[in-house]
This record gives sequence, C-alpha cells and structure tokens, in this order.
Amino acid sequence: MTAQNKIEIVMTGPLMAYAADQLKARFTVHELWKEQDRAAALAAVKDRVRGVAGGGAHVRIDDALFDALPKLEVVSNFGVGYDNVDAKAAGKRGIIVTNTPDVLTDEVADLAIGLLLATVRQLPQADRYLRAGKWLQGAYPLTTSLRKRKIGIVGLGRIGKAVARRLEAFDVPIVYHGRSRQADVAYRYYPSLVEMAEDVDTLVSVAPGGDSTYHIINAEVLKALGPNGIVVNVGRGTVIDEQALIEALKAKTILSAGLDVFEDEPRVPAELIAMDHVVLLPHVGSASVHTREQMGQLLVDNLVSWFDGKGPLTPVAETPWKKA
Ligand code: NAP
Ligand code: 8YV
Repeated sequence: MTAQNKIEIVMTGPLMAYAADQLKARFTVHELWKEQDRAAALAAVKDRVRGVAGGGAHVRIDDALFDALPKLEVVSNFGVGYDNVDAKAAGKRGIIVTNTPDVLTDEVADLAIGLLLATVRQLPQADRYLRAGKWLQGAYPLTTSLRKRKIGIVGLGRIGKAVARRLEAFDVPIVYHGRSRQADVAYRYYPSLVEMAEDVDTLVSVAPGGDSTYHIINAEVLKALGPNGIVVNVGRGTVIDEQALIEALKAKTILSAGLDVFEDEPRVPAELIAMDHVVLLPHVGSASVHTREQMGQLLVDNLVSWFDGKGPLTPVAETPWKKA
C-alpha cells in the first residue's frame, strides 16, 4: 500500500514504539495528543479518518470524538478495561470498539498477589526501614499475616479467576462478589458486597470501572470489613470511594490498603501519600515489556483485521460483531 492510499487513523495518546511503529508502517497516523489545537487538527482529517488507536486508560473517547470523525469505523483500545471509551455511544453509531483481553491476565494477577503480600507483610515499609539504617537500632516490628485471612474477590472475571487460582496455592479461603453467580466456580458467591465484607477480612478488587461499579466499595463495606481489614485494588480506582477509604484508614477502622489504581490518575490524594500503612503503585498491573508488547500487538491486530475486512478480533460486548 502506498503512502497516498494508506488508511488514516488517529492515535489519541502515545503508545509504545513496538505498537506505534507497526501502526505507522500500515496506516497514516495522526498523533492527536501532539496537536495544540485538537479541534482544528480533527477538522482537517475528518473526512478521511476511519480508525482510532486508543492511547491508554486516561484518554476519553466519546461522542465528542465520534462527532468530530464522521467516517470512524473502529476504535482499538489499549487495555482490557475500556471505561475510558463510551462504548454504548459507539455501538449506537455502529462504531466497533475492541480491547485487549487475556494477554495481560497473568501479569495483572501476579501483580495483585505481589501487592497483597506487600501490603500484608509491609514489604515497602520494611525496605524503607532498612535503608534508613533503623535495623541497626532493632528488628522491624512484627506484621499481620496472610495466615488465617479470608479473601473476598470483587469481580471474578478473567483476572479475578487468575488471582483466585494463585491464592489457592496460599491455602486461604476464597469467596467472591459479582453481579451474578458463576456456574463453573466452586467458591462461595455473595450477591451482597456488604455481606461478603462482613464475612471476610481481605478484599481484592478486580472489577471494571464505569457507572455500575462506581463506589461499590464504600463506607458501609469498609465498616463491614472491620479493623483487621485490608483492601487491595487492581481493577479501577472508581470502584472504591477513595474519600471513605482515606477516612477508614485514618480512623484505623480498617488496617491497610494496597492500591494500584486511583480515582483521578495520575493524581493520588496527598492524604494517602502521607500514610505509611498503605502500599501505593502507579497503575503498573500490566506494565512489563512482555505484556505491554502483547497488548500493543493485539491493538494493532484488531485494526489490521478490521481494515482487511476480516472483522474485529476482540470486540467489546457493547459493540458486538456478528461473523458473516
Ligand atoms: P472481565 O473478565 O470482564 O471481568 C470483570 C468481572 O467484574 C466479571 O467477573 C464481572 O462479573 C465483574 N463485574 C462487572 N460489573 C460488576 C459490578 N457492577 N459489580 C460487581 N462485579 C462486576 O475483565 P478482566 O479481564 O478480568 O479485567 C477486569 C478489570 O481489571 C478491567 O476492566 C480493568 O479495569 C482492570 N485492569 C487493571 C489493570 C491494571 O493495570 N491495574 C490491568 C488490566 C485490567 P459479573 O458480570 O458477574 O458482574
Ligand atoms: C493498562 C489496564 O495499563 O488493561 C487495562 O485495563 O488498566 C492496564 O493494562 C492501561 O489500560 C493502559 O493505560
């Protein structure tokens, strides 16, 4: 395909070179985030752009962009979570949205286990203690334990199940909450998140963002979890009422939290940063070279497949694709 007749796409944010270089080889790519006047940049290409490569969880893709790009056919999102994309609005317009499921499941589950252990056994705090020379004055204080804990998983999907499989090796009881009971799962199901929180002392949230999960982990749930309670979140920040979590941590009505995701990334409340009894990560669940390359490849492959007339590889539920 020559430069003259290459299909034109918009990249909404920076993608790793591994994916961006492939896109540039195949398509004419308009790098929207580099534009001073984005409206003017979109207006200049609006009759030609047929695809969007979504550059990360923090870039909103909604009616404003769909209005600006009337020839848009497909949005390929970088990430399995696509709460940054108004997929329902896309569906109404017949625009296909794709995401990057499965290729990151094991990486994020590994990170969730690491974050859980880091939080329970205070690994970052112990590291800081040693570096500060405090070991010379005495041993690090004893911590809480994973032993005798009971884990409630919020959102037992692909990643949630991979977390549960790993936790089985730690010999801890596992239960879960979601919108529906899963027939092929032996763990106890709780239709009520508050009731699950009453029965466990550790929540691991792997639920997606969006309206249906907004603040489902709230003050009532945290109170039910109790003073030995630990909350780990690798799903989306919006699932937890962050202010209620801060209040519970301050008042020590729960013990600790391990957070990879936040309500207003990359801004993290100063109150959380000031607390020594929490573990905070900058949304790194999938952030290894290996896994980000797999995600980038799937983003590229979805666009290529679509424009080769073979349909999307991993369309999201709101924009289903029926194979002919
Ligand atoms: P998935 O397979 O779609 O699983 C999502 C699970 O959440 C499902 O089991 C679903 O069960 C449950 N769920 C959905 N809406 C819910 C609600 N309103 N209340 C309670 N549970 C609900 O997705 P996945 O591949 O496991 O990914 C899960 C999420 O992890 C992504 O959406 C993304 O936000 C996050 N993530 C984070 C990172 C990171 O770097 N930290 C990396 C990748 C993904 P029901 O349908 O039965 O409710
Ligand atoms: C990515 C994620 O870090 O896949 C997701 O839903 O949250 C992460 O894998 C993110 O989408 C890239 O910004």
